[in-house]
Amino acid sequence: MPTIDRRALLAAGLGLFAAGTATAAPSPTLKQAAASKGRRFGSAFAFGTRGADAGTFANPDYAALLRRECAVLVPENEMKWQAIRPAADRFDFARFDAMVAWAHVNGFAIRGHTLFWAYSRWFPEWLTTHDFGHRPAIAAAAILTDHIDTVTARYGQRIDSYDVVNEAVDPDTGQLRQTALSHAMGGTEPVLDHAFRTARAAAPHAELVYNDYMSWEDRNQHHRAGVLTLLEGFRKRGVPVDTLGVQSHIGLFAPTTDAGALARRLEPGWREFLDAVVAMGYRLLVTELDVRDKGLPVAIGPRDRGVADFARAYLDIMLSYPALGDVIAWGMSDRYSWLRTFEPRPDGAPARGCAYDNAFRPKPLRSAMLGALTNAASRRRPR
Ligand code: XIL
Repeated sequence: MPTIDRRALLAAGLGLFAAGTATAAPSPTLKQAAASKGRRFGSAFAFGTRGADAGTFANPDYAALLRRECAVLVPENEMKWQAIRPAADRFDFARFDAMVAWAHVNGFAIRGHTLFWAYSRWFPEWLTTHDFGHRPAIAAAAILTDHIDTVTARYGQRIDSYDVVNEAVDPDTGQLRQTALSHAMGGTEPVLDHAFRTARAAAPHAELVYNDYMSWEDRNQHHRAGVLTLLEGFRKRGVPVDTLGVQSHIGLFAPTTDAGALARRLEPGWREFLDAVVAMGYRLLVTELDVRDKGLPVAIGPRDRGVADFARAYLDIMLSYPALGDVIAWGMSDRYSWLRTFEPRPDGAPARGCAYDNAFRPKPLRSAMLGALTNAASRRRPR
């Protein structure tokens, strides 16, 4: 394997970021329950410096939680272009190398997120304003190829599943998003197809995933239809895509007292979507699970109950599909959840969408996850 940062390897190997003192997770653990049905349970995690109060391997309490509950880890931000590609001709792997090294030394599998986030909002500034010259299609394809080849070569077998493309469908229209690369390459489809073909050639061992947030709540019809059209197109064009990553940032938005009743109403439409995806031969992953609790009462008892009931119903559906592989949470503790800042509740109360609370105590959502993983259909092994 090429040059992973030696200091990072050394630090991880010496156990400088050793486990801390968080209270023991109840038994069985989430990863054990998932493994009993042939799956991996995991979480997003972050880079951090030693002892940081953040969702990082360098925070002993958080690291202990990851070790107990998770078999697979995903970098929350550190593999994105904004993090590793500061310029067209430069890469910076220092932070992500440290995460990969720690995960590897501690026996975790690693998913790569993401080789290409097809949404201008999340492009690094230089890419949006890049001059692609006289032959823009060739120049744009080269930038993408270089990115995918460089990342996959660096991490080799250590990363066994990639979100090759993230969020290419506009949820409002169901159309593919336009970006600087799609303008240069004469459309979005050529960009996405190129990304998957390049990834297959560069990392033939890896599962290749299209990842998006079309979800089961109302008002996602256009998004779901757009994703189905995209997945059909991949099949027609022979593009090597193995799996749909269902992000699963599920949410209760309108005032809700009965999360179970809402879930039952949403189930038929959601199954119809999943059935269509599976019928095309795609596998499924839950890649970024958490629960947005805006519509639930602020009181912690009913709020945590509503979150757990909603997630249990959702996961029971997802886990009834033998085509479902990994189940991955977008962080393990409310303390570090992106939902706190990204989508604050109108009343300002901190979001409670993760399995563990601020003090790393398990919540009803953890029990819901455990119950769903335990009662799941066994995973059908990919050929
Ligand atoms: C989010 C991170 O959690 C935040 O820290 C960051 O500011 C923005 O991105 N869909 C994805 C993830 O695919 O990469 C996003 O992660 C959440 C939505």
